[in-house]
Amino acid sequence: MSQIISPSVLSCDFANIQRDVEMINNSTADWFHVDVMDGVFVPNISFGFPVISAIKKHATKPLDVHLMIANPDQYIEAFKKAGADWLTVHYEACTHLHRTIQVIKANGMKAGVALNPHTSVEVLEDILPELDLVLIMSVNPGFGGQKFIPHALKRVARLKELINKTGSSALIEVDGGVNLETGKQLLEAGADALVAGSFVFNSPDPTQTIQDLKAL
Ligand code: DX5
Ligand code: ZN
Repeated sequence: MSQIISPSVLSCDFANIQRDVEMINNSTADWFHVDVMDGVFVPNISFGFPVISAIKKHATKPLDVHLMIANPDQYIEAFKKAGADWLTVHYEACTHLHRTIQVIKANGMKAGVALNPHTSVEVLEDILPELDLVLIMSVNPGFGGQKFIPHALKRVARLKELINKTGSSALIEVDGGVNLETGKQLLEAGADALVAGSFVFNSPDPTQTIQDLKAL
């Protein structure tokens, strides 16, 4: 299987969101990466339900929703209604992570857990078999266009070992500072899915850039 490419709509032109959604529809991208920030868990605010519903209306591929919010449990059903197919919560935002995962799955979504750069991948060992996805942050969450933190490579490799050891079928997705160079290294380390925001949308030909990532 070739890698999953999930362009981050955080870097799209919000005045032309339908155009950018169509670009992703017509590209070789696999998912839409949708970043929700609440100004509490991360020092930035992005967008919420009306924007996700608008994207869903036009998107022909699954929505990979990354919640950078405190108390995600409060909104799981609402994200399902807005159109999330994959719902990823932060380990650092969930006191009862196991329960949160069960609720996401009970609502008919695939369940993911994101780890900030300082959080050891080993904390997920006991619940890996329950997870559909682990999102390794290769920047501190909150903003697009940041520089890749190289220790993400070792983290992906360690997580891959844990996934194999526990018999989990979780996919490894990586988010932050992904370009052709870091993307290639991440795939070699064991990543299954790459998120890319500014690298895609700031490029002269986003469709081709998605294809270049897909062909790595
Ligand atoms: C950052 C977000 C990312 C962001 C990635 O907090 O979670 O998904 O859009 O942007 P780039 O690819 O520009 O680092
Ligand atoms: Zn993200």
